[in-house]
Amino acid sequence: MTERDVTIYEVGPRDGLQNESAVVPLEAKVTFIERLVAAGLPVVEATSFVHPTWVPQLADAAELVERLGPEGRRHPVLVPNERGLDRALELGCEHIAIFGSATETFARRNLNRSLDEQFAMFEPTVRRARDAGLDVRAYVSMCWGDPWEGAVPVEQVVSVGKRLFDLGASQLSLGDTIGVGTAGAVGTLLDAFNDAGLPDDVLAVHFHDTYGQALANAYAAWQHGVRTFDASAGGLGGCPYAESATGNLATEDLVWMFRGLGVETGVDLDALVATSVWMAGVLGRPSPSKVVTALS
Ligand code: HMG
Ligand code: MG
Repeated sequence: MTERDVTIYEVGPRDGLQNESAVVPLEAKVTFIERLVAAGLPVVEATSFVHPTWVPQLADAAELVERLGPEGRRHPVLVPNERGLDRALELGCEHIAIFGSATETFARRNLNRSLDEQFAMFEPTVRRARDAGLDVRAYVSMCWGDPWEGAVPVEQVVSVGKRLFDLGASQLSLGDTIGVGTAGAVGTLLDAFNDAGLPDDVLAVHFHDTYGQALANAYAAWQHGVRTFDASAGGLGGCPYAESATGNLATEDLVWMFRGLGVETGVDLDALVATSVWMAGVLGRPSPSKVVTALS
């Protein structure tokens, strides 16, 4: 087992593929996940148990987990509610992730709930998941800005994030859903979470690269003390319910930066780049990652 200094939480198969206009065939998803695991990614979020008409790209969630076999159960899956949890439990999934919104508008658009109503949906979901022995991650979206509401007050993000975490999560992932965050604002928000009793070691950061700031933001979070970073192979990604969201921070860009810093990720960069080049072929468009382009 490789000693790692940081954990890269790979979201390409979920956050990446959920936003592709083309539905990727099941076999290609299986291969993608298996290649990511083989490249040394310690955590690979596989899919979402959401309503299939909301995210048709991931409507094959159950088949995918089944096809991945016993290994498939350890990959985290997104679950918004008890119906999603039932589906995940039937398949023996061991890790779920709930996903809340820091803003009213995105809660309505992404979950069909108000900001307050989302907690009523998540509370029994997390309680039952924990009772069944599952690990729960919580996401909070729109942490550094929202396309409809603009800047989001830090106190509001911290209040929602802490409430989600306190439902029983082991980790809170702070999402810059539309990629508007900058390095200084990353430090400000992390400080505010620390002050509210959530230290860096229960926090993860989830940057989208819309404004080209994702890598700088990850560096700011690493310097602050965060050690879990969400990223997406080849920079796939976006969010179907936030139109201005583009791809996530490319895993290759993050691995390249950490390699230069002497920070061990445990990831085989060549194998990862080859995987992203292959996936670009499946999707019929090149990866937006500069590191993938440079190394391929
Ligand atoms: P709703 O329409 O309010 O659902 O949607 P409902 O509770 O009223 O139920 C309506 C029907 O849907 C019922 O069926 C339910 O059984 C069924 P009927 O009785 O009418 O036959 N249903 C389901 N079926 C399958 N799986 C389920 C499920 N739930 C209900 N889980 C809901 C509410 C939350 C389901 C919907 O809004 C939804 O699926 N939203 C998901 C949107 C999504 O996946 N967005 C992308 C992920 S978030 C993201 O990308 C951000 C992140 O990356 C971080 C960042 O970047 O910031 C994580
Ligand atoms: Mg995302």
